Amino acid sequence: MSERRFGILISGRGSNMVALVEAALRGEIAARPAVVISNRPKAPGLELAAGRGVETLAINHRDYESREQFDRAVVAALEEHGVELVCLAGFMRLLSPFFIRAFPDRIINIHPSLLPAFPGLDVQQQALDHGVKVSGCTVHFVDEDLDAGPIIVQRTVPVLEGDDADSLAARILVEEHQAYTEAVRLFFEDRLTVEGRVVRIRQE
Ligand code: GRF
Repeated sequence: MSERRFGILISGRGSNMVALVEAALRGEIAARPAVVISNRPKAPGLELAAGRGVETLAINHRDYESREQFDRAVVAALEEHGVELVCLAGFMRLLSPFFIRAFPDRIINIHPSLLPAFPGLDVQQQALDHGVKVSGCTVHFVDEDLDAGPIIVQRTVPVLEGDDADSLAARILVEEHQAYTEAVRLFFEDRLTVEGRVVRIRQE
């Protein structure tokens, strides 16, 4: 059987990327991380990926005239690496319809809130300002709307008295690494089916 592959897109630190790469190296995900691509050439995550033996590419969005031209370059690189699934892990670019149509139901994102609450940026501050008592993270398929696609896995985190955005983000991040690994593991166990906006998870 031919080896299955996934690609990871990052813009910065890359801790979720590292969680996925290490889970795959441990054999918890039945696929190989074939390439890590950053739109920022100086993203610290690129070295972390290379240090774990994963091929890396920097494709700088500033070198392209439009979002779609940049996306065409990224899609071409992903296709060259034969990836079946694209994992966005702190990738700070909106995807064009061209990109989303190139990988239907095969792009996954992680977001540090319990969607549909608090999409977008400054997510933990949004949660604190709203006064929620529980937050968490969401792994979801990506569609053409921001942070809105079908939900695969969510994990909750209590908001504690005295939390600020950083302390809440740090506690959520621990759960993100678990949730993302679980979602990608389920994908490569072929246990996910998208029905409208609902993701069905086949029981083993
Ligand atoms: C994470 O909080 C993720 O949910 C959000 O951006 C952050 C990226 O962190 N989309 P890292 O680069 O994975 O460490």
